[in-house]
Amino acid sequence: MSKEQLKIFDTTLRDGEQSPGASMTRDEKVRIARALEKMRVDVIEAGFPIASQGDFEAVEAVAQVVKDSTVCGLARALDKDIDRAGEALKGANSSRIHTFIATSPIHMERKLRMSPDQVVEQAVRSVRRARQFTDDVEFSAEDAGRSEIDFLCRIIEAVIDEGATTINVPDTVGYAMPWQFGETIRTLIERVPNSDKAIFSVHCHNDLGLAVANSLSAVTYGARQVECTINGLGERAGNASLEEVVMAVRTRSDVFQCETGLDTTQILSCSKLVSNVTGFPVQPNKAIVGANAFAHESGIHQDGVLKHRETYEIMRAEDVGWSKNRMVLGKHSGRNAFRSRLQELGHSFDSEEDLNESFRRFKDLADKKHEIFDEDLQVLVSEADSEAVSERIRLLSLKVCSETGETPVATVVVVIDGEEASDTAEGGGPVDAAFKAIKKLTGIDAVLQLYSVNNITTGTDSQGEVTVRLKQDERIINGQGADTDIVIASAKAYVNAINRLLDREERAHPQGDV
Ligand code: KIV
Ligand code: ZN
Repeated sequence: MSKEQLKIFDTTLRDGEQSPGASMTRDEKVRIARALEKMRVDVIEAGFPIASQGDFEAVEAVAQVVKDSTVCGLARALDKDIDRAGEALKGANSSRIHTFIATSPIHMERKLRMSPDQVVEQAVRSVRRARQFTDDVEFSAEDAGRSEIDFLCRIIEAVIDEGATTINVPDTVGYAMPWQFGETIRTLIERVPNSDKAIFSVHCHNDLGLAVANSLSAVTYGARQVECTINGLGERAGNASLEEVVMAVRTRSDVFQCETGLDTTQILSCSKLVSNVTGFPVQPNKAIVGANAFAHESGIHQDGVLKHRETYEIMRAEDVGWSKNRMVLGKHSGRNAFRSRLQELGHSFDSEEDLNESFRRFKDLADKKHEIFDEDLQVLVSEADSEAVSERIRLLSLKVCSETGETPVATVVVVIDGEEASDTAEGGGPVDAAFKAIKKLTGIDAVLQLYSVNNITTGTDSQGEVTVRLKQDERIINGQGADTDIVIASAKAYVNAINRLLDREERAHPQGDV
């Protein structure tokens, strides 16, 4: 018997971007959107166009390049938001406007200061307006997880009558329990008289670690769209993780009456791409995409797997993109091999110069490191993209002296707005000294919130990938840098974060006041 379709709505580029420090540039969003399209995600929520000019342009750019997935823009239930989303999506092959308004007593009274009647009226009006731009309109009842069921039934019936084709039921604050949430979906589908005219969707936050469980419970009771993000990125504790939802439905096809159309072999490269772009490392024990997800440590497990894989493995590592043969390129690889491997990883070059510049970086790296892995290539192009964004400050050179019993000293040369400048500083260690010298040169007064180093591959010649998180006023920014020398990688990451801080753009927040 053929199964029903479960739509995967990816919101990495919108809700995922709401993780503090995860803001993405237009080009980064386009790269991730391409990778999501390659994975055959049904809907890509590319951003919140009214939030800022940058977000508008990012949604517009994604709408231009993505052809096979539907591209969606978020809009509060306000005319100006909907018009902006409609405008940004004009070039899309298939577009969706996602409009929302809060429906829980606490949000209606305290945040919106609106009566339930006013909320219904505004929701209906917004769906009507969105339908002027596209036939594909999604309505979300924000904070549905804490809303009254009678009111949810009322507003959902009204927006479906007005032409909403997807009804999203978000657990905005991650409060629901799986059995209750499943029951809510069952009740809504049963009680809303026109529920057969729309697809029911869920959007779960992970505040209690239940986002995936709640989503799957909802699927069991009739939800046919799940909103999720790569690596579970998202506001606060994040959203349901795409890879976990998709692999749960696939692995336990015996208990689900639906299936996704995703090419799961793309999962790992998407995960790495998102991690590289945002600078949010994936914890080693993360399900599906963590470095240890398919590693067997105990002798008993290893013995079992060797005798018969299914003794301890419920999924095949290859099915989510882990491959055994990871060495791809080396010092003698040519431009074509380089270009085609990056194309396989979902990266395309905008121009010949772009390719040449990345190839030059690849050759530099290959001089320092004999074996170049997919992970190295991903970082290499990520770095090239983030430098292209805004480079008011460029690191020219760094010299550090670090010796037992002596205070480390760093001398940094940078170009700031075209002018070369140099300074020296001492520090507790070489990285501290380099950061102090950069701080003196740029005069940027930001608080360092996080400094982390990850080795991209294994071995002491591996590139170190450094993430630096800076906070200035209320803005939090991540910067990344990679190099086989981790002090240089650290300085690159620090300069990258400062460049992002200088690239000031105020953004509205979707959960802010209407
Ligand atoms: O969490 C939430 O409620 C949202 C909505 C905008 C769908 O992100
Ligand atoms: Zn959300």
